[in-house]
Amino acid sequence: MPVITEIEDLRRIYRRRVPKMFYDYAESGSWTEQTFRENSSDFDEIRLRQRIAVDMAGRTTASQLVGQDVAMPVALAPVGLLGMQSADGEIKAARAAEKFGVPFTLSTMSICSIEDVASHTSKPFWFQVYTLKDDDFMKRLFDRAKEAKCSALVITVDLQIMGQRHKDLKNGLSAPPKLTPASIANLATKVPWGLEMLQTKRRFFGNIVGHAKGVKDPSSLGSWTAEAFDPSLDWARIKQFRDWWDGPVILKGILDEEDAKQAIKVGADAIVVSNHGGRQLDGALSSIRMLPRIMDAVGDKIEVHLDSGIRSGQDILKALALGAKGTMVGRAFVYGLGAMGQEGVKKSLEVLHKELDTTMALCGERDVKNLGRHNLLLPEDFETRWR
Ligand SMILES: Cc1cc2nc3c(=O)[nH]c(=O)nc-3n(C[C@H](O)[C@H](O)[C@H](O)COP(=O)(O)O)c2cc1C
Repeated sequence: MPVITEIEDLRRIYRRRVPKMFYDYAESGSWTEQTFRENSSDFDEIRLRQRIAVDMAGRTTASQLVGQDVAMPVALAPVGLLGMQSADGEIKAARAAEKFGVPFTLSTMSICSIEDVASHTSKPFWFQVYTLKDDDFMKRLFDRAKEAKCSALVITVDLQIMGQRHKDLKNGLSAPPKLTPASIANLATKVPWGLEMLQTKRRFFGNIVGHAKGVKDPSSLGSWTAEAFDPSLDWARIKQFRDWWDGPVILKGILDEEDAKQAIKVGADAIVVSNHGGRQLDGALSSIRMLPRIMDAVGDKIEVHLDSGIRSGQDILKALALGAKGTMVGRAFVYGLGAMGQEGVKKSLEVLHKELDTTMALCGERDVKNLGRHNLLLPEDFETRWR
């Protein structure tokens, strides 16, 4: 068993274990990948203020997200195709999250269905929807999530159309995959992954196949996905989705203060400041750099979460100190899942927690809720370099 001390260790194991097409699917951004890279490198521009001789005993990272108790203010972000990173991946990640005491968010584009994840877990998870055209399908999806006792709905609002990711096109990663000779040759080298996959029946989009109109089998998925997304989405439509759900609603994919104000108007309970992990608009600023202006605009009126680029507990601390109430991690837990299944997701959460807790102590804080700008040192133009 290798010694794992940081998220990067898990990424390296993940890369060796999982077929290239699925590794590339996660480890990529759109177009030039500038936003994908800056999501992480911008965290490095923020420095921490060391304090000493402060009582550090009895620290806590416990907090609340949309009114729910969490062991630390981190949720697992919705990530499609987890069941391709590791057999039954959604169930494994949900179980690890539940044991750790943080929310797991199931993506619409998951391999395991809502019902399947619910029957293999004992605590409520969050459910993520895309803003699709088909009202009947959407309403049924909401009903299914309610029946499965999902405790919050995450509506992703930054994917009306898809940002182009070169690697996916080159690898033939589509629904269903178009295997190239290179990807077949690569798949053949991933024996432990392949053996696990052969033992599960869950290999297609479980929330869609057999549920969406005309998608009776995986071969019709391609035409469905091409048609399903709604390029004409507007705020009235988002409000309609909000009103269909009678629990907490989190709008994910807000990167501009004007959109954050609109989110309040449609009655969202929280927003996630996010650029989809750099997978949509390449050239957009990183989430962490956009956070301060969004906090200034709406921070006292709505719960603000942040994702995109978090790879350590220190990154989490920086987001919280800039005012976010919560964070989501995507790739940081996908690496763990691909590397070591449920154990790997647990390991990711442990690494993040330890880094957050120790950094908090060295900054002279005992309670994650007391973090603030006083813990940070920012370059003078951090918020104003791009106007
Ligand atoms: C492989 C992959 C698949 C994703 N699938 C979804 C999805 O189905 N729904 C969604 O709302 N966001 C999706 N996202 C975006 C994540 O929810 C999240 O915003 C992003 O991963 C955060 O950036 P990070 O990976 O740098 O933490 C996906 C991200 C990745 C990396």
